[in-house]
Amino acid sequence: MKTRITELFGIEHPIIQGGMHYVGFAELAAAVSNAGGLGCITGLTQKTPGDLANEIAKCKDLTDKPFAVNLTFLPTVSSPDYPGYVKAIIQGGVKAVETAGRNPVEVLPYLKDAGIKVIHKCTSVRHSLKAQAIGCDAVSVDGFECGGHPGEDDIPNMILLPRAADELEIPFVASGGMADGRSLVAALALGAEGMNMGTRFIATQEAPVHQRVKDAIVAASELDTRLVMRPLRNTERVITNEAVERLLAKEKALGDQIKFEDIIDEVAGVYPRIMINGEMEAGAWSCGMVAGLINDVPTCKALIDRIMAEADALIRQRLEGMLSGSFAAAK
Ligand SMILES: Cc1cc2nc3c(=O)[nH]c(=O)nc-3n(C[C@H](O)[C@H](O)[C@H](O)COP(=O)(O)O)c2cc1C
Repeated sequence: MKTRITELFGIEHPIIQGGMHYVGFAELAAAVSNAGGLGCITGLTQKTPGDLANEIAKCKDLTDKPFAVNLTFLPTVSSPDYPGYVKAIIQGGVKAVETAGRNPVEVLPYLKDAGIKVIHKCTSVRHSLKAQAIGCDAVSVDGFECGGHPGEDDIPNMILLPRAADELEIPFVASGGMADGRSLVAALALGAEGMNMGTRFIATQEAPVHQRVKDAIVAASELDTRLVMRPLRNTERVITNEAVERLLAKEKALGDQIKFEDIIDEVAGVYPRIMINGEMEAGAWSCGMVAGLINDVPTCKALIDRIMAEADALIRQRLEGMLSGSFAAAK
């Protein structure tokens, strides 16, 4: 399959792995890229620009295919060394960057001058248009279903994607709730030219996280996520657990008076404990509603091959069959 996204990034299949804190290490990024998608190292999981440079070098040892680095612009007071991370990306010869969070306008000129393709992930049409206006090459449009930070507008992809298609000229991928060939074909039908997956890629053989994290995703249904930190306007979709229930009880009790310090135990520094040690009750961790569609832990190659085969069959048999007058149930 060819789309403007496959051509932009030089990849075989229009499937991207989104940056994920303490998940997007070289092992996963390389596995996705080797399977024909675009893998992604999460920049800020690396504590220093030097660590990121080492992770990029490791990924290059594991794949000769293009991969991306995610740069998330956090709403924090003490800003990470973004110029240092950008330097590591450029010097590492990385071909693509996924930006997320705040508008990437400050780093964009450096990335563009180095010939790096930039895909900005955002949760609204207005932010997508802004990304286009400042010169991003593509957008990852992240619907309300997504794991992580869905923003504050709460527009699901069934509406958000065709709205983006109506307004954008640059290509975009659908992000949030994507899991299989059905997701890909639906995303293409709604105007996207590929899809970005987060949660689905955690439940793969190569994702370098504790087995209990993968098991939790397979066990979860579409009803098992919660939105936390909404009163702080930093909404995050997470899988429910005891820490999340505690956090939500604090939000309910403190209402608009809540401050980040009140929930620090449930959210600060919990990712390594969960992802690496498998301490599943340590705190809140991002997970999409799409967990309800995830029932196995395949290799990245098996997953991507299956998605492309499903998409092919859907388009050539189910949809084409309907057009030519023969029809069958989906299963
Ligand atoms: C565990 C986890 C950690 C994430 N960390 C980040 C991150 O650090 N930066 C970022 O831009 N997006 C992050 N995301 C969002 C993903 O890149 C992606 O946009 C999202 O998962 C898509 O929704 P889906 O989970 O329904 O596929 C994270 C998602 C998950 C599930």
